[in-house]
Amino acid sequence: MTYQYLTKSRNGAVEYLTLNRPDVRNAFNEHVIAELAAWAADVREQAAGGKIRVVVIGGAGKVFCAGADVTWMSQTIRYTEAENLRDASAMSAMFAAIDLLPVPVVGRIQGAALGGGAGLAAVCDVVVAEDGALFGFTEVKLGILPAVISPFALAKIGRSAARELFLTGARFSAARAREIGLVHAVVPAAGLDAEVERYVQEFLASAPGAIAAAKALIPIVSGRPLAEAMPITAAAIAARRVSAEGQEGLRAFLEKRPPGWSPRVLNTEDTKVTKVD
Ligand code: COA
Repeated sequence: MTYQYLTKSRNGAVEYLTLNRPDVRNAFNEHVIAELAAWAADVREQAAGGKIRVVVIGGAGKVFCAGADVTWMSQTIRYTEAENLRDASAMSAMFAAIDLLPVPVVGRIQGAALGGGAGLAAVCDVVVAEDGALFGFTEVKLGILPAVISPFALAKIGRSAARELFLTGARFSAARAREIGLVHAVVPAAGLDAEVERYVQEFLASAPGAIAAAKALIPIVSGRPLAEAMPITAAAIAARRVSAEGQEGLRAFLEKRPPGWSPRVLNTEDTKVTKVD
């Protein structure tokens, strides 16, 4: 599939996606949203075949993402209520599709992540930001609200920070974003790619099926009473430890060798690669 507003490249099993509308600071309109949704569906399919194990999302130019395209949103006055609802639902589904990807998603943030851009950061598993980056749930400053991004933002920053930041619309630093759980690492701009790669290597050294299971478990267990969570968590580990991947990982540790999914094994042609599920 070819995209107008996205560019992507691949290094082994790592997919690098770049939002590519730098003239409007990578703001997204209905076309960008449709492309992101199609891309997420493609990643899901390729992840199932083992072709993609990690995704990195970044933005072209000086800013990661300025959120929803204000010009596009102002034009929605011409839409019927049903059309507006359909449009907003498509945006909501796009965020959910990225949030639910079975592979780890790393956000690479330079410049700013505002409004829906902060929402995009919230659907990443790990966010690495340059120390000068600005964040903000700025919607109320424009007379709108952070609606479709709120489930994802709340899951990261919690109610207290949301009450301050959704209601003021204030911009805040990368350091503050890290403090409230939206960002995981803050580094000087020159070190952004190296820090992203450090996370990518951590993910590649871990078992893809185990990562997907751990990622899926978080929303299932989160907020559940302990008594309900316990049988779910017991079933999850019971299934994993007898899986081919679980057995390979446990054996590899005991045999003091890298497991089959490790880049150290996959990059060595003459090393027998153990097939994992
Ligand atoms: N939608 C549409 N266009 C946008 C945009 C958005 N969300 N954000 C920026 N742009 C456009 C600007 O209108 C400007 O267009 P122009 O060149 O035709 O004047 C261009 O992108 C560059 O913006 P500028 O503000 O000059 O860039 P900057 O690098 O100095 O600042 C930002 C970047 C992101 C900090 C700033 O553009 C900004 O605050 N944008 C609004 C973000 C926002 O509140 N988003 C929430 C939307 S719900």
